[in-house]
Amino acid sequence: MVNKATKPTDALIGHDAWNIQLDKNGNLKHFLTTEGLGSDILTNILDTAESFANINEQSVKKVPLLRGKTIVNLFFEASTRTRTTFELAAKRLSADVLNINISTSATSKGETLLDTLQNIQAMHCDMFVVRHSDSGAAHYIANNVAPNISVINAGDGSHAHPTQAMLDMFTIRRNKGADFGKLRVAIVGDILHSRVARSQIHALNTLNTGDVRVIAPKTLLPVDIESMGVNVFHDLQAGIKDADVVIMLRLQKERMKGAMLPSEQEYYQLYGLTEERLLAAKNDAIVMHPGPINRGVEIDSNVADGSRSVILNQVSYGIAVRMAVMTMTLGREKSGDEDTQKNETAGESK
Ligand code: CP
Repeated sequence: MVNKATKPTDALIGHDAWNIQLDKNGNLKHFLTTEGLGSDILTNILDTAESFANINEQSVKKVPLLRGKTIVNLFFEASTRTRTTFELAAKRLSADVLNINISTSATSKGETLLDTLQNIQAMHCDMFVVRHSDSGAAHYIANNVAPNISVINAGDGSHAHPTQAMLDMFTIRRNKGADFGKLRVAIVGDILHSRVARSQIHALNTLNTGDVRVIAPKTLLPVDIESMGVNVFHDLQAGIKDADVVIMLRLQKERMKGAMLPSEQEYYQLYGLTEERLLAAKNDAIVMHPGPINRGVEIDSNVADGSRSVILNQVSYGIAVRMAVMTMTLGREKSGDEDTQKNETAGESK
């Protein structure tokens, strides 16, 4: 269905991939990638999430904003944090939530992805939250759903994980303030296979971050990484020197083709974040990780569980950020075109 290349192909995602994310009024319709979206939209997501973070800290956490809406979680790949926080976010907004278990769905009996989508669509849902192992899957789905449905990318191959990136921006803003221009942010590890890193880099640059750095062995960096507007380092301590934020990434062995590293032990010797190495960063630097973490591979337990770690805050903020994205995409004023197309689609399916 969708190409499994490490780098998504233009044929699948398109040179104007981000254009399909906005409706004709410039409002967010789908959220597929942070690439190409303006700082106004990214800042709006962060500001909207701020109000939801306050709700999440109250004893009654539910608001009626998406009452009557139906949100479908379509996860073709394993997830703990993303799937559960999307479900919680939808429930806190009073939406109805369907979790489709792909391993027990008719997709496992040979039904195509499009047939599965069309059948779920016939149940009058409003949003698909999609995770897929193929880069480009979320764009493919957004290009093929009925016009009234919004698609949120919950991670596609090594391409993009935009809500993860935005919860990471939210975590940075809560800890370091809104002026990203003052910040040095270091992203360490398997950049090559990381959809999280790609989405973070686009978001950090759009928010005008002062210095965005990537630190990795050459084998774990895309050849054209400089073109994304980052400074490249191969030495961990040089790369995290005076950093305000250190983001660690997991080695994504499931996406590696062949041996890209001598061993996990050797990787840890060179790139594992220990308390001693963290001394190179600023005294008040925060340590982040999208999870799942591999202790003793990319991060030492003393750092993961230490006072600088905001890893579990990232998970909590994920609910607020996903509530923000859901209300922004589903709360849009529907354009006349969409209503017309929706009625035509409904008529055709009778
Ligand atoms: N960060 C992240 O995407 O985690 P999950 O794979 O558990 O959803």
